[in-house]
Amino acid sequence: MTNHKGIRKIACIGAGYVGGPTMSVIAQKNPHIQVTVVDLNAGRIDAWNDENFDNLPVYEPGLDAVIAEARGRNLFFSTHVEKAIMEADMIFISVNTPTKTYGKGKGQAADLKFIELCARQIAEVATSPKIIVEKSTIPVRTAATIKSILDHTGKGVPFQVLSNPEFLAEGTAIQDLYKPDRILIGGEDPDAIAALRSIYEAWVPSDRIIATNLWSSELSKLVANAFLAQRVSSINSISELCEVTGANVDEVAQAIGRDSRIGPKFLKASVGFGGSCFQKDLLNLVYIARSYNLNQVADYWEQVIKINDHQKIRFAEKIIQTMYNTVNGKKIAFMGWAFKKDTNDTRESAAIYVADHLLEERAKIEVFDPKVQENQIYNDLNALATRSKEENQKLLKAVSSPYQACEGAHAIALLTEWDEFIEYDWQRIKNNMRKPAFVFDGRKILDRKKLEDLGFIYYAIGE
Ligand code: UDX
Ligand code: ADP
Repeated sequence: MTNHKGIRKIACIGAGYVGGPTMSVIAQKNPHIQVTVVDLNAGRIDAWNDENFDNLPVYEPGLDAVIAEARGRNLFFSTHVEKAIMEADMIFISVNTPTKTYGKGKGQAADLKFIELCARQIAEVATSPKIIVEKSTIPVRTAATIKSILDHTGKGVPFQVLSNPEFLAEGTAIQDLYKPDRILIGGEDPDAIAALRSIYEAWVPSDRIIATNLWSSELSKLVANAFLAQRVSSINSISELCEVTGANVDEVAQAIGRDSRIGPKFLKASVGFGGSCFQKDLLNLVYIARSYNLNQVADYWEQVIKINDHQKIRFAEKIIQTMYNTVNGKKIAFMGWAFKKDTNDTRESAAIYVADHLLEERAKIEVFDPKVQENQIYNDLNALATRSKEENQKLLKAVSSPYQACEGAHAIALLTEWDEFIEYDWQRIKNNMRKPAFVFDGRKILDRKKLEDLGFIYYAIGE
């Protein structure tokens, strides 16, 4: 088993939202290469190996079919990290790089503890040459850290370090992997670059594979996410202006999006962006800029996060204000908890912050999300540490039916744009709610006319 650049075995450290789907597709498209995804979290590995695809740790449309084809053939999920490292010719690092919660750079800088641990472990175990590929989003110049650790603590075997950031978006991961806009490879060694390139060339046209220097590649990932987040904050800032001027933000987005220089994508006003990347990467960019004393640059990008925080709180405040300035004791049904549709991921989801704000006002919340599990919802809220776990449990309930969530509710807050929400029996929902029945659509997916005809009081962002 080998490809023409000599890669026979790949290991990937980290079986999360990036490592799992990415390696599954690499294995599917390169049946001659053995791909082993390892993780310290045994529960997660068991879930990746589960016969029942509903139990996979990551929900992604189309992922089950990829796993069905490749798992057990040339795709393996395992907790044997050292064995996988030892045998691999190429090692992808796909571990988490959360925002630091302590010490210097707390709340802004990326925590590179997990990356460093991986580098040390690779150095300790490796007895043959390896190509190390950074997949995780990392601050610019991290490759230098990895290389230094490998060279100083290794057994004298040669290592090449490449940057190959992943641009997939959750919910569309498989399609994004199948048809990437570009594959970015940063590095110095032509042979290592060619080896990685050949893996992608199994299905990606070569003109879509771009090679740059290491630092451009590392920085491009942060900058791509910063630009995308900035677009969402830009349109969200305009949504507030629309609400006071009588303009409609969807119409404005459509009008400006027709300008080919602006383009129509990523202009959907919302209750605020979430996800594991945007905020983390922006904070990181701001931190890096400040560390070079580029304060104007840092302030500029920081504003993107401030608008996002403002949008989440503004939505919660709108609910309170519209409901006669009090939500104390009132039941509010949450439709959706995930940070976007078609994923079970809730990291940095706007729903968490909107709920927290409403709970401070003593609202009672019942949440329905098609894919998010109850314990995840409590974990998210408890992590904010605004109130005790017991209190969160008392004030918020997760339920398995949307109709149950809405039963006896004073209001519905729609936080995630799941398609199924549009198709619900809104007459039935209305009949079982308190009157007046309010709907606050944080994603602008429902039909205003239909809901108003049914007698709802309907509010949508940016109208
Ligand atoms: C993002 C990048 O798109 C991806 O390239 C990168 O690899 C990881 O970060 P992801 O966070 O999975 O992907 O989802 P994305 O579709 O970018 O959405 C991020 C957030 O912005 C979501 O909360 C989404 O609801 C919100 N959003 C997006 C809007 O509110 N309006 C939009 O127009 C687009
Ligand atoms: P991402 O969204 O970037 O994929 P996740 O948090 O979903 O992030 O996944 C990262 C995974 O990496 C986690 O499952 C975590 O257990 C794993 N991980 C972190 N450090 C190590 C390590 N040193 N060895 C193996 N697995 C690790």
